[in-house]
Amino acid sequence: MNMNIVCIPGDGIGPEVVAEAKKVLEKAASVYGHEINFEDILMGGASIDVHGVPLTEEAIATAKAADAVLMGSIGGNTQTSPWYKLPPEKRPEAGLLKIRKALNLFANLRPAVLYEELAAACPLKTEISEKGFDMMIMRELTGGLYFGERKTFEEDGELKAIDTLTYSESEIRRIAVKGFDIARKRRQKVTSVDKANVLDSSRLWRKVVEEVAKDYPDVTLEHMLVDNCAMQLVKNPAQFDVILTENMFGDILSDEASMVTGSIGMLASASLNDTKFGLYEPSGGSAPDIAGKGIANPIATILSASMMLRYTFDLDKEADAIDNAVKKVLTEGYRTIDIMPQDEEGKKKVKQVGTKEMGDLICERL
Ligand code: IPM
Ligand code: MN
Repeated sequence: MNMNIVCIPGDGIGPEVVAEAKKVLEKAASVYGHEINFEDILMGGASIDVHGVPLTEEAIATAKAADAVLMGSIGGNTQTSPWYKLPPEKRPEAGLLKIRKALNLFANLRPAVLYEELAAACPLKTEISEKGFDMMIMRELTGGLYFGERKTFEEDGELKAIDTLTYSESEIRRIAVKGFDIARKRRQKVTSVDKANVLDSSRLWRKVVEEVAKDYPDVTLEHMLVDNCAMQLVKNPAQFDVILTENMFGDILSDEASMVTGSIGMLASASLNDTKFGLYEPSGGSAPDIAGKGIANPIATILSASMMLRYTFDLDKEADAIDNAVKKVLTEGYRTIDIMPQDEEGKKKVKQVGTKEMGDLICERL
């Protein structure tokens, strides 16, 4: 197969982790007889520094013409970076929101899995973590609060700000259909998360999700209020299979879910539209504090590349090979600093490696 992949190394640790994921993709391609053409585009701070805007129209066009996009991370320190002195629509994050909208990437898949090898890094009590968990957070990504009209204005001598949360039936239906499709391939359970006791947008969400559920009699649907879900994620994460939710709830819950796995450096994500096209990125941020030090964990980006092979290119065998190579390296005891055990006894049993070494080890096991 011939694959055209656009890379967005981005800011912070982005370039370092994308380099490792590229290496792994190239190795997988050579083992299984595929061709990959890579092309880089600028986004976020890296684009601001060159073009004065976080994403150019040309960059969007290049991404659109590709089969898939592999992204590192964007953004810097919001307290100290000059990028955050710019008006909001020119800051790094605006580039990410813009590419999601421009490519219609409405379905964000964020798997949160507790690896047996890393169970010690899980901050939950043993009696909870020993049950393990494997959930898929499906976050609506191009609607809701993050894309509604917003403004700040003066009224009666003080400032007021408005953000609007809007969802249409069709926006809810298309993400719900994806959620149920994915649940069907997993453990056939969807937990739809909303705030239907307060919000109209959530009541509509619930109604449409229930309509969609009728086409999936083999999938169990339950509704959960978002505040309860936040609690259940730390109390009993094993209960979840697919969590289906709107943009902001998904943003917050996916960070929480990632933290209970022990390391955000392990979590991949895919953002899909209704074709095979997708943008794949680690769930973690740009981590400017450790950028350039060669210590960032590349596994989330490598697993994102594996999701790309699976969802965009239907190369399940190759994706499994990457996932297994990652597991193997962990079983053999290699760890980047973020997933090192905290206790002295535990530290003795593993070996700490840097970003590049981790990438190499995974390549060798492919
Ligand atoms: C994420 C990030 C983004 C979001 C920001 C950077 C705009 O937090 O991908 O979760 O909120 O969607
Ligand atoms: Mn987020």
